[in-house]
Order: sequence, then C-alpha cells, then structure tokens
Amino acid sequence: MGEILRIENLCKQFGGIVVADDISLTLDAGEIVGLIGPNGAGKTSLFNLISGVVQPDSGRIFLQGRPLEGPLHRRARAGVVRTWQHMRLFRSMTVIENMLVATREYPGESMLRSMFATASVRRAEAEARARAMDLLARMGLTQTADNIVVDLPFGQQKLIGLARALMNDGRCLLLDEPMAGVEGSNYETMQRIVRDEASAGRAVCVVEHNVSFIKDLCTHAVFMAQGKILQRGSVDELTRSRELTELYFGTVDASVDA
Ligand SMILES: Nc1ncnc2c1ncn2[C@@H]1O[C@H](COP(=O)(O)OP(=O)(O)O)[C@@H](O)[C@H]1O
Ligand SMILES: [Mg+2]
Repeated sequence: MGEILRIENLCKQFGGIVVADDISLTLDAGEIVGLIGPNGAGKTSLFNLISGVVQPDSGRIFLQGRPLEGPLHRRARAGVVRTWQHMRLFRSMTVIENMLVATREYPGESMLRSMFATASVRRAEAEARARAMDLLARMGLTQTADNIVVDLPFGQQKLIGLARALMNDGRCLLLDEPMAGVEGSNYETMQRIVRDEASAGRAVCVVEHNVSFIKDLCTHAVFMAQGKILQRGSVDELTRSRELTELYFGTVDASVDA
C-alpha cells in the first residue's frame, strides 16, 4: 500500500528546547507505527507539528504527495486527524453532540456552500448523525449517545475521543496515548478499532507507554528522545535494546513492561 504521510527534516525549537531535531518519517497506508520514548521526548510536539498546532522552524510535510500546510482545521480537512493526550471533550455536552461538533469544527468548502441550501444542510446533519451512531455502534456505546460525556467512565470517554477524531474521514490518524487509563473491555475495543482503521487503509501513528499495546498492534516502532529519532525497528528490537531502556527509565533494571 502507498505512502500517506512523509515528513522531511522537520526541526522545531521552543526557546532553547529542541523538540524536533531533523525528524524524517513516512507513514504508509495500512500500517500502525508506534512512537515511543520518555516523557518530554517530543512525541506530542511531533503530532502538533504534523497536525498544524505549531509550525516548524524548517522541514516539510507531505500528505499523499501534496504539501501539508496551514492550521489544524485545514490539515484535518486535508486528512490528518488526531486525538489528544489530554482529552478535549466538551464536558457539558452529550456524547452525540460532542461527535457532531467535531464535524462542524472543520467545515469543508462544500459544507459552507451548503449553508445556503437548507435541504443540503439537513442532509449533511443527517449524514453526520448516521456516521456518529455508526461509530458508537462499533464501539458498543450506542446506549451512551444522549449521556453527558463526563458522566461516562474514563475509558469510555477515551473511546469517544477516538470516535470524534474518526468523524472526520482522515487518511492519517495520530493517536496520543489512547490507552492511558483505559482497561478491560474498553481496552479491547480501542485495540479493535485502531486495527480496523488501519485495515481500512489509514496510516496510523500511535504514541503509547503501554508496551504490550504497541507490541500487539504496531507494524514497527520509532524511538524518540530529546527531539531526535534514535532508532527504528520492530517493537521487539526496540524494547530489547539496553541503551533505549536506559534512556526510557533511567535504569536498565526496570522492565519495559512495567
Ligand atoms: N508550546 C510549547 N512551548 C514551550 N515548550 C514546549 C511546548 N510544547 C512542548 N514543549 C516542551 O517540549 C518538550 C517536549 O514535550 P512533548 O512533545 O510534550 O513530549 P512528550 O509528548 O514526548 O512527552 C518538553 O520539554 C515540553 O516542555
Ligand atoms: Mg506527550
């Protein structure tokens, strides 16, 4: 399957802190790439650079061969969608409202045009609602549609965070610590959905400290520290590396599975 995202020599500093130091990376359709490394390595910053939350000092990003530029909503429209390490749900809204708002945040040109035609607006709304209900059904969360989102257990809120991202039909999916605080059946659901999205031809990159999740899902992984990609390889190769384990935990005695 073909290349979806290509990052070339991306650099970014905040003051004296280098968060991206000559990062080059490609993501192909159907693959799930694990992005691992210690806190402060620059993993979230890389997602911020790709998704347009922050602009790079230098370097280029291409989505399906075209330069990926502009702010978050423009890139989302182009097909880069993401979840957030710290969930950004609208706390007082229901689940379905949170999901419908996700599509309105990135109105496409056709959507703007359709503002002038009430029938098209209604059709777009109905399509968005159907898509939202479909996603909730896939997650086993149909019954939660009208619940206030913060009343749900944390694991379900994380799933809703993913569902919101999937409301926008992006070819490139960036997941920032999707499993943090997620257990049991929600964990399995998250795993299944991520796998299915990759099988559907999306390129997925996932930041995650849960190494068994990375091992189960990822085609390969990339290890980052201090804004640099230090190593690429199979998850086994990376987690067996004494040097990387030391960087990750500050000691080689700690198990990577801890
Ligand atoms: N907007 C910002 N302004 C200044 N420093 C930032 C900003 N975003 C991230 N950083 C710094 O960049 C470094 C990398 O952070 P981050 O990308 O969040 O790491 P990770 O996700 O790997 O834990 C940290 O030292 C963080 O404090
Ligand atoms: Mg982070």
